[in-house]
Amino acid sequence: MNALSEIKSHFSAALAKLVDDPTQALGMIRPAGDPKFGDYQANCAMPLGKQLGKPPRDIAADLVADVSLDSLCSNVEIAGPGFINLTLSDAWLNNHLAAAIKDDRLGVTATDSPRKYVVDYSSPNVAKPMHVGHIRSTVIGDAIAKVLRFAGHEVITDNHLGDWGTQFGMIIYGYKHFLDSSAFKTEPVKELGRLYKFVRQIMDYHSTKKQLPTTQAELVAAQQKVEQLKALPETGDKKAAKKQKKELNNAISAAKKLTGKIEDAQATLQATETSPSLAKIAAQHAEIGNAALLETAALHAGDETNLALWKQFLPMCRDDIQKIYSRLNIVFDKELGESFYHDQLANVVKDLEAKGFTRESDGAICVFLDNHDAPMIVQKRDGAFLYATTDLATIKYRMENFDTDASLYVVDHRQSEHFNKLFDVADKWGYNETELTHVSFGTVMGKDGKPFKTRSGDTVGLEGLLDEAETRAATIAKENNPDISDDLLAQAAKIVGLGGLKYADLSHARTSDYVFDYDKMLSVRGNSATYLQYGYARVQGIIRKTEADIAAIRQSPVAFEFEQPIERQLAVKLLQFSEAIDEMLVDYRPNILCNYLFETAQLFAKFFDQCSVKDASSDSLRTSRLQLCDLTARTLKTGLSLLGIEVLDKM
Ligand code: ARG
Repeated sequence: MNALSEIKSHFSAALAKLVDDPTQALGMIRPAGDPKFGDYQANCAMPLGKQLGKPPRDIAADLVADVSLDSLCSNVEIAGPGFINLTLSDAWLNNHLAAAIKDDRLGVTATDSPRKYVVDYSSPNVAKPMHVGHIRSTVIGDAIAKVLRFAGHEVITDNHLGDWGTQFGMIIYGYKHFLDSSAFKTEPVKELGRLYKFVRQIMDYHSTKKQLPTTQAELVAAQQKVEQLKALPETGDKKAAKKQKKELNNAISAAKKLTGKIEDAQATLQATETSPSLAKIAAQHAEIGNAALLETAALHAGDETNLALWKQFLPMCRDDIQKIYSRLNIVFDKELGESFYHDQLANVVKDLEAKGFTRESDGAICVFLDNHDAPMIVQKRDGAFLYATTDLATIKYRMENFDTDASLYVVDHRQSEHFNKLFDVADKWGYNETELTHVSFGTVMGKDGKPFKTRSGDTVGLEGLLDEAETRAATIAKENNPDISDDLLAQAAKIVGLGGLKYADLSHARTSDYVFDYDKMLSVRGNSATYLQYGYARVQGIIRKTEADIAAIRQSPVAFEFEQPIERQLAVKLLQFSEAIDEMLVDYRPNILCNYLFETAQLFAKFFDQCSVKDASSDSLRTSRLQLCDLTARTLKTGLSLLGIEVLDKM
């Protein structure tokens, strides 16, 4: 058990005497923000004082009298209005450090209530190039799965590939009309990607052309409204004047938005119209949008040609994304894509109908929900099933085949509405005993504050991104060590470059957008993988220099000595590894683990400056320091490995 849970379990009984539910009060017991307040702080006396109408200091005194912390703390102090400051005893620290040193799991005990999880992540729509957004789901999902496993849970990772969607109709249409056969022979996936983009362009051309007159009419109306508002006589009434001004500003910005939309539309049209050959093709394929949909429908209905094409394309697309997964060291237990569920969709709808949960609306079969305005459509008027229907089938399949306690969906925040509805329908349908959680994440932004794009305005392909991170890491490694061998250089480029890329993603709160920045990502100074990897390599350097027999020391650790305050601080931090893991899993936030590792590495850097290992004043102090170094390195290495990041012995 870690210090925090031990302290909490001691407080829990005492708190239960004061309030019915001590959860909130227990949540206010935390590691101290500053070592001068001890190692942990219980700040619950203040809110309890308010709640119970008693002076907080009295409550703190009662709690301290009631809780016996002798086995754990050397000092328990009431400070200020009623803070309880707790200092761990050196004996407790020594016991736990010794246990951690001997333990491959560094003293992190596995949970005594293991659950079975499915983690649904990465899940790209194949046959479209993977882009920067996919890295977030892939990297966050992988870290969550690894940490859950380390914590003792059973995990099934599942890559719910989009392998059955409308993109296949588009590609099939492209293949039938625009194929460059020789390109397809040499680089098939590249040619499929080109076909997808090409069909997309012509579809966009026609839909834009169709939409433009409406937008133009909207603009005229918006401009008229602006003129009308401008022409209104000024009013003396302050409130009315303010309202008038606000309305005018709103109208102006609405008109501006429409102008922007029209400019974008005109650019889209021009891109096709300025090329005579493209314009000709566009004219010949005026019905392309509908035709592509029909190709998808034919595929779903089992049309032989389309099914044969799909069967030919899919393995190529899978191989292609597999290249990215191999580079990132990502392995899935299952890859049950959307196509896997195709046969089960009709039954899902039948079952929902039989249970009386559906209603017809405009020919579509819908599930209406009390707390949502719009229903969930499970079958369209033309008979087609939807993304949501597949997700319902997936929930049923996972429950029946994996008997899960929880499913985590690591998917872009823009799908929140989908998952909210999905989980409510699943609940209604009877899957109310399994946890269903949307682990959502924000957008990857460029330095300009807009979604990360290449100069030409395309979304950035994942492959190029990985290449660039490796190249930059290689340049830095070569600068630091011009004599580095080619093998080591390649290894460093991969470990530092791709590690940096993963860490940059993981260290930002997943729900926020984050700015993609190669320089920060590979910096040795800030909160980066490089900084942590550097801390690890530094320890290996110390161990090499002192020629210590670290394996023997691990077998029989000696008593720790804290000559400098930083040694004790580092020791306390190292024993908080399992607390960081617990906290990360509360709502699946890898940045909590990143922060913990960063703070550990920062303390280690201070320790390194202040405490010599080689020139320690006694053998026992030298060994104590070596043990701290070793435990730091192993904590960094294990923590990084849980994030999918490797380390190097030398940097
Ligand atoms: N293929 C989807 C997309 O790229 C993500 C799928 C997420 N998983 C799920 N079970 N819906 O948007």
